Amino acid sequence: MVVTAGIPRKPGMTRDELLAVNSRIVGDVVTRAIAASPEAILICVTNPLDVMTDLAWKRSGLPSSRVMGMGGVLDSARFAYFIAEATGAAIGEVEALVVGAHGDAMVPLPRLSTVAGRPLTELLPAEEVDEVVRRTVFGGAEVVSLLKTGSAFYAPGVSVAAMVEAILADASVVLPSCVRLDGQYGVTGIHMTVPAVLGRAGVLAVPELPLEPAELAAVQASAAQVAEQIAALESAGA
Ligand code: 2OP
Repeated sequence: MVVTAGIPRKPGMTRDELLAVNSRIVGDVVTRAIAASPEAILICVTNPLDVMTDLAWKRSGLPSSRVMGMGGVLDSARFAYFIAEATGAAIGEVEALVVGAHGDAMVPLPRLSTVAGRPLTELLPAEEVDEVVRRTVFGGAEVVSLLKTGSAFYAPGVSVAAMVEAILADASVVLPSCVRLDGQYGVTGIHMTVPAVLGRAGVLAVPELPLEPAELAAVQASAAQVAEQIAALESAGA
């Protein structure tokens, strides 16, 4: 079950400004869809992604292994594109990874992103790495400002299709997915993007990447932001 229902951003809006209206839409859609498909594996695409995935999990009553969100595959694809552009490498040589919240607090990981096996941090000076990271974080907003009447759809569509294919094919591939963390990275009970193994049963495992202290701090700051939004939604009675 892929949930894309909701309103998209307009130019100048953040994903978080969609919280109130989209929580009503996602809550309603998930409640009705799960009644018809109680054994579903659910992938949420609606923004703000991490909070909507959490809401979908709560409303569905499904085990956390059967509920995930799509944001990380898209953000990592954008990161890979900007890395290819900045280094002149073929996109096929680039492996890129973005974790954390699908929003301004996302965490592109240059040290763990490679071009033909070499870390980005060894290929570009720090200020160029920073610029590639900045364009990645604001890549979604860049598309919104160009389209003017909505947000990206081609790359999000391909990204969620990759997750669906991994599940249908029982591929056991690792894709950056918004999953419920249970102690990994020092985060418990928050949905956020990390590398996760996907297969026929949904999220098969969430193996923890060894992160450096600054990377871990950024991931935890991202989690804190998601936690704040979930608390805001809950205190609004959703
Ligand atoms: C994006 O990043 C729509 O959040 C989606 O483009």
